[in-house]
Amino acid sequence: MKKTFGFILFIILIAGGLAACGSSDSASGSAEQEEKVLKMATSADFPPFESRDAEGNFEGFDIDLANLIAEELGYELEIEDMKFDGLIGALQADRIDMVMSGMSATDKRKKNVDFSTTYHHSGEMFVTTADSAIESLEDLEGKTVGVQLGTIQEEGAETLSEEYGFEVKKVDDSGLLIQELNSNRIDVGYMDKTVGVGYVNEQDLKGFDDPTMSSPGMGIAFPKGSELVTDVNDVLKKLEEEGKIQELEDKWLSDVK
Ligand code: ARG
Repeated sequence: MKKTFGFILFIILIAGGLAACGSSDSASGSAEQEEKVLKMATSADFPPFESRDAEGNFEGFDIDLANLIAEELGYELEIEDMKFDGLIGALQADRIDMVMSGMSATDKRKKNVDFSTTYHHSGEMFVTTADSAIESLEDLEGKTVGVQLGTIQEEGAETLSEEYGFEVKKVDDSGLLIQELNSNRIDVGYMDKTVGVGYVNEQDLKGFDDPTMSSPGMGIAFPKGSELVTDVNDVLKKLEEEGKIQELEDKWLSDVK
């Protein structure tokens, strides 16, 4: 009898322990939980904004900024790596609290998600190999231009391709664009200028600006109606005033301006 009671007690303790482990709460959940977790998603294929170091740790401008925001608001930051293409859907399904992924705050996206104030502006550029003869939009005729799925460049390339007569190849990873370029599977990679300049500086590549597109700045995206938007905007303002944003720009973006 004593033994059975002990066993039941043991089971209860185990079950209780497991339940406690599973209850780490997200920012959208109840506030009574001690440990507030802020779930951020990103597509870590976009240096200097987000990538992985040799050990697989997230690094970049967005990652540092996300950590500062989480710290200011008293959250523990949890980062999930996803395909860029899936980020908006994850926000809409409320599976994550926010997205920081060099995401341009376009009016089209604003129909489905809310954005913070913008924190960086990048133009667009075309990246080619160093020996390429392609130096302007006119030279793109009959060529293959690579873009990342779900980006504003995918949409922009679709429109430009009609006027300039090029093929659009879509890949789901931004780093893959550079691999495709280096192995001649595409003639040009079309991407954010800040990111493109980084690759041009680091590898044997060159590029030219897109004179046609005027994209909005990058913002942090949230599920529609999220209460985090105002809190995060307040933090962004504070970090700006304290010079912290400038510090991050000096750290990550000084080589790519
Ligand atoms: N700025 C572009 C956009 O918003 C591309 C962003 C790609 N980001 C990334 N982490 N791969 O569509």
